[in-house]
Amino acid sequence: MSAIHLISPSGETTTLQAHDGDSVMLTATHAGLDGIVGECGGSAMCATCHVYVDEAWADKLSAPLANELEMLECTASERRATSRLSCQIKMNAALDGIVVRLPETQQ
Ligand code: FES
Repeated sequence: MSAIHLISPSGETTTLQAHDGDSVMLTATHAGLDGIVGECGGSAMCATCHVYVDEAWADKLSAPLANELEMLECTASERRATSRLSCQIKMNAALDGIVVRLPETQQ
């Protein structure tokens, strides 16, 4: 299990425990967290799982693939340098303690 710290737009932090291999989106939606929708179920086809990865963690992630980059053009909230689709962030021990910020809106 690895910890994910999710910070809401109002600054509230929620910490969830993720199984290795589960995505940040899956972990958040299973926990019923507001702020991540995950409409397409993790296929990188909806952009409703958009998050801003904390800068200290951004370099620890593998680079986004073409389909993720394409969907990041469609986020409801502004895209930033560390924007990622949380369904494409698969948890493992190296990401234990990752910090992500939720955008104002997903739709
Ligand atoms: S859940 Fe749809 S793009 Fe991530």
